[in-house]
Amino acid sequence: MNAASASNKSSTLKENDARQMGRIVSVTGSQAIVLLDPHDASKSSQNNSSPELGTLLAIRSSSSIVFGMVSALSVPVPSHDSAANEMHIVELELLGELPLDEHGEPLTFRRGVSVYPCLGNRARVATREELKHVYSISNTNSAVRIGSLQQDSAIPTMVAVDELLGKHFAILGTTGTGKSCVVALILRAILKENPQAHMILLDPHNEYSSCFGNMAEIVTPSDLNLPFWLMTFEETVEVLIGNQSDRELDASVLAELIPLAKSYYAAKNTPSASGCSRLQRRTTDSGIFTVDTPVPYRISDLMILLQEKMGSLDQRSTLAPYKRLKTRLEAITQDPRYSFMFGNLTVHDDMASVLCRLFRIPVNGKPITIIELTGFPSEVTNVVVSVLCRMTFDFGLWSEGYVPITLICEEAHRYVPEDTNLGFEPTKRAISRIAKEGRKYGVSLGIVTQRPAELDATILSQCNTVFAMRMTNEKDQEIVKAAISDAATSLMEFIPSMRDREAIAFGEGLALPGRIHFDPLPEHALPKRGAASFSDQWTKEITNTEFIDSVVARWRASSAPETIADLTTQELENSDTNDHQENTETTPSRSPAQGLENFDRRSSIETQTPPSHQPDRRSENLMLTSKPAPSIRLKSPAEALGVGGFARPSSNLENASENTPE
Ligand SMILES: Nc1ncnc2c1ncn2[C@@H]1O[C@H](COP(=O)(O)OP(=O)(O)OP(=O)(O)O)[C@@H](O)[C@H]1O
Ligand SMILES: [Mg+2]
Repeated sequence: MNAASASNKSSTLKENDARQMGRIVSVTGSQAIVLLDPHDASKSSQNNSSPELGTLLAIRSSSSIVFGMVSALSVPVPSHDSAANEMHIVELELLGELPLDEHGEPLTFRRGVSVYPCLGNRARVATREELKHVYSISNTNSAVRIGSLQQDSAIPTMVAVDELLGKHFAILGTTGTGKSCVVALILRAILKENPQAHMILLDPHNEYSSCFGNMAEIVTPSDLNLPFWLMTFEETVEVLIGNQSDRELDASVLAELIPLAKSYYAAKNTPSASGCSRLQRRTTDSGIFTVDTPVPYRISDLMILLQEKMGSLDQRSTLAPYKRLKTRLEAITQDPRYSFMFGNLTVHDDMASVLCRLFRIPVNGKPITIIELTGFPSEVTNVVVSVLCRMTFDFGLWSEGYVPITLICEEAHRYVPEDTNLGFEPTKRAISRIAKEGRKYGVSLGIVTQRPAELDATILSQCNTVFAMRMTNEKDQEIVKAAISDAATSLMEFIPSMRDREAIAFGEGLALPGRIHFDPLPEHALPKRGAASFSDQWTKEITNTEFIDSVVARWRASSAPETIADLTTQELENSDTNDHQENTETTPSRSPAQGLENFDRRSSIETQTPPSHQPDRRSENLMLTSKPAPSIRLKSPAEALGVGGFARPSSNLENASENTPE
């Protein structure tokens, strides 16, 4: 050791001595009690005052420095006379230790304590150097900055990407605390370091489209293509039958006919099968597919099969399920809200290109897919979310984790509610499966919710990194506390009183639990739709009432069987004419008698469409676009007026771009 470092060390030791504030008087397992020194007027107030809750204290033992977080402060026997004579007690949760080498130099911080402090050991507030050691991530290659430590803003909060994503994470907090901003902040930080990532974000409020600039592939209801044949039996039943009383009966008909329709499609599209009769081909291939196998089939074939079955039954009463299914199929294929599933006139096996777009393979500069869910009617949203979550897991499963994928689920309590009577069973199952087994197949989950108490508790317990923001509801707080296994429990006491943009962060993605302050997000990357600024809006008169038409059109379009878009009356008339021309050619009539004939015609259109007239399914932009969706994208009222809508409340962003890694 040279003279300079020796003198440095001695000055550090002196400084540390000056910071000492008390001695250990009790150690029980992971807890310790410090009795603070009597108030000494000669010491500076900073060193002589009681530490705050959540502060990290350091206790020097023989071979290491043990760190404990202040979990409680008390004066067991308060006195009326003089505060100087009172005992001040500090309770600590022991979190980890910094081993020292033979020269007293710190090695690497580790969680847990192997050498406990002894009675009489002196305790002091941890120095900035020590905090840096404690809160640094050992594998800095895969760590990204998301904020700073509340105890000392000079200490960055880093998250270890592999641990964060590999073992799932959750962002919890009351509405308006900044959850969506944290999602954007964390994902942007990860994407900056990992431009070849594969993320998929379910965006129920269409708020994330601007957060990632041109790094995001935005999928809207009008350009989503999720062919109906990708659905499992359960999802198909939900869409085609729903919760009606004769569900079982109708479902059994589908269970019998869907595999046949799949076999029929396969036979018809296998060159060797040409020349065989329809029945022969069907018999040859029957039994290859289960009702859940994700292979194409045609609705027209299903209709033919239904019709054939109906023809072979003589009792009127047994015809009912067939008739119901037929009517439902006719209606749904014409319903523009379902055009993303049933809109393609031709059925192709485009599963690979659907997967490529959703999971960004190849990435093509857009490592994140944002699925905008506003615009889907609620019953459809359930199915879409179910199909997407299940496909994410299945893709991981069948690719054996070749392409790691992260699925972020906003408003997760909607999809995986605790209440067994709520939610959609297949969605719940798909998300639970990712939570429980996804890690083995490179599929990770990010859960965001404002109501942890309404979220299935098993999902939360699988999230190994948690960012708990302010929560005022006691039930929510209890649930989060119950989910915490490590020493951060005492930090939870802060949860009702934290500011916006603050969180208690704990779990495997962080070096140590702590109270953190998130970095500001640059203005251009903020999620859309901040809270409405009432005071701003209510001082301005609305002179242009055009937006009302747009509101009415959007409203109607979400529930009407025929979508009326945001077009002007003239545009609507034109589009009506065009749609009509197209539909008269191909859409089956609702009349049962004509249905079969029309579907037969449609089926022949499908098979006869020359390849050159078919959309290039591999082309990035076209590959998921079905026939021009009748559910034309509706302008928001703000767009209709050409104004910005509700103003987002201004935030303290002056230094945003400097502080936040872009
Ligand atoms: N890191 C941040 N940087 C900049 N502004 C922020 C940040 N976090 C929060 N805000 C501000 O707080 C507002 C609310 O944040 P956000 O929309 O993320 O809250 P939320 O918890 O997702 O709300 P909700 O539950 O309603 O979805 C934002 O509009 C933004 O102005
Ligand atoms: Mg939000």
